[in-house]
Amino acid sequence: MTRARLRSDGLWWVLAAAMRTGKAFGVSLLHLPGEIMFESRTQTRTRGAYWSSQEVIANALYGDGYHYGPIKRRLMNEALRAVEIDPQASTFVDLGCGKGRALVVAAEFGWRRLVGVEYDPELAARARENAESYSRRRLSSPDLSFEIIEGDAASYEPPAGQFLLFMYNPFGEQTVAAVIDRVIQSWRSDPRPVAVVYANPQWEHQLRHRELVETARVGSRRHKMEQAVIWRLG
Ligand SMILES: C[S@@+](CC[C@H](N)C(=O)[O-])C[C@H]1O[C@@H](n2cnc3c(N)ncnc32)[C@H](O)[C@@H]1O
Repeated sequence: MTRARLRSDGLWWVLAAAMRTGKAFGVSLLHLPGEIMFESRTQTRTRGAYWSSQEVIANALYGDGYHYGPIKRRLMNEALRAVEIDPQASTFVDLGCGKGRALVVAAEFGWRRLVGVEYDPELAARARENAESYSRRRLSSPDLSFEIIEGDAASYEPPAGQFLLFMYNPFGEQTVAAVIDRVIQSWRSDPRPVAVVYANPQWEHQLRHRELVETARVGSRRHKMEQAVIWRLG
């Protein structure tokens, strides 16, 4: 092997290793420039994976929570473009909001009332900081309101009025089933426009065969991890 070949192979190896390392920390090098631009524009810091302690996970009702990783903005943009609910008239709820990435993207889409539920105190604090920093930047929108609730999504009571429930594969099957039960109960007692967006929908069978109607599926056709499914109630 020539020295030039060794050098170029070495460069590829270093690049590939850097990409793998970046992925493990929740952001690939390819996406890094876009991430930095988004964070600078919105005055937030939501990138980077975070693993909650076993104690935090086990304290939740079903103990089936997954780690934090921010939603890819391209997938979320596609999903929000496909929902059939009015951002001005509905509350955006992110169950398992982590550092608040999805809340900020939804605010950029025009939602004014945003609720994040997060059981990890460290992440909930980061989401609050990001929401405050984003709101300061958007002083021109005094009606913008973020509420970060530190708690278990399995016990969250959906809001009154129209809402969009967002989940980016935050937890396992039992919590998904409990959440969907509550959403359906809430809708039965007060039928109103309700949409559900489930990104990386690992437990989507829990949403089938109920009053939920699938309205769109966006993202990759092949890989669930890169997909989002959209439902409406009624
Ligand atoms: C894949 S991240 C999604 C982050 C965010 N929604 C986004 O799209 O950028 C999943 C988040 O759900 C949180 N989580 C997992 N189980 C939970 C539970 N039972 N209640 C509240 N939050 C939970 C994790 O701590 C993590 O922050």
